[in-house]
Amino acid sequence: MQEPSDNYQIDPAITIHRPEDFEGMRKAGRLAAEVLDYITPFVKPGISTGELDSMCDAFIRDHGAISACYGYRGYPRSTCISINHVVCHGIPGDRKLEDGDIANIDVTVILDGWYGDTSRMYLVGDKISIRSRRLVEATYESMMRGISVVRAGATLGDVGHAIQSYVEPMGLSVVRDFCGHGLGREFHCAPSVLHYGQKGKGEVLRAGTFLTIEPMINAGKFGVKVLADGWTAVTKDRSLSAQFEHSLAVTETGYEIFTKSPKGWDSPPYEGINA
Ligand code: MF3
Ligand code: CO
Ligand code: CO
Repeated sequence: MQEPSDNYQIDPAITIHRPEDFEGMRKAGRLAAEVLDYITPFVKPGISTGELDSMCDAFIRDHGAISACYGYRGYPRSTCISINHVVCHGIPGDRKLEDGDIANIDVTVILDGWYGDTSRMYLVGDKISIRSRRLVEATYESMMRGISVVRAGATLGDVGHAIQSYVEPMGLSVVRDFCGHGLGREFHCAPSVLHYGQKGKGEVLRAGTFLTIEPMINAGKFGVKVLADGWTAVTKDRSLSAQFEHSLAVTETGYEIFTKSPKGWDSPPYEGINA
């Protein structure tokens, strides 16, 4: 007998998790989301990114976890905070938030050995331009469209296509230099989850795969460069950039998001706290 000769590739590096592994991810994902809920009321003009980072770090430790970022490949802080034209991996420090900024806070916790990785955008103050607001809304919607096509049998190209085909007609662009990733008992593992692509192409998703979808969307061109600190990625054309991230599982019938906000604060406005 021949094996069925379906002409797609299965990447042996992609871990297929067991049903009992989901509980660890639910707890880690929930804690990562709770960190973002906790910090939300403090995201206001005048606070520094270093202060926000320290508060997140204390919250993570108080809940029996550690930050996956601190010390990761020499990364010096516990979160990434990326403002305006910073695409990702902004290092928290003395920079104070200003009215009109858009900022991403990205949190990854390790709880009982499981990784929960999530990020959201914050609109700082009340002088947010229409352009900024639209970019943030489109980025959230693109992530949710990418997630909505996830199920056993769909492909990673389907996910990328859902994101790219939504944002490009608006004149926005999808960052190519960073992608989503598998996770579980590891931070970054197979598969690489590109946020652009063609329907039906790429790896076929199987139930029990844990991954992130975390599109970085630019108001201008997709080019990115990394600053001399070795981390901070900015748009080459200095256009604004936005990002959201969820950790999720592929299931037979669809997906399970591990990092949904217990407070319902998945995208701004956050109940008037941070409109
Ligand atoms: N949380 C980021 C991600 O979504 C990774 C940050 S790594 C760090 O994959 F070292 F910059 F913190
Ligand atoms: Co991630
Ligand atoms: Co992240």
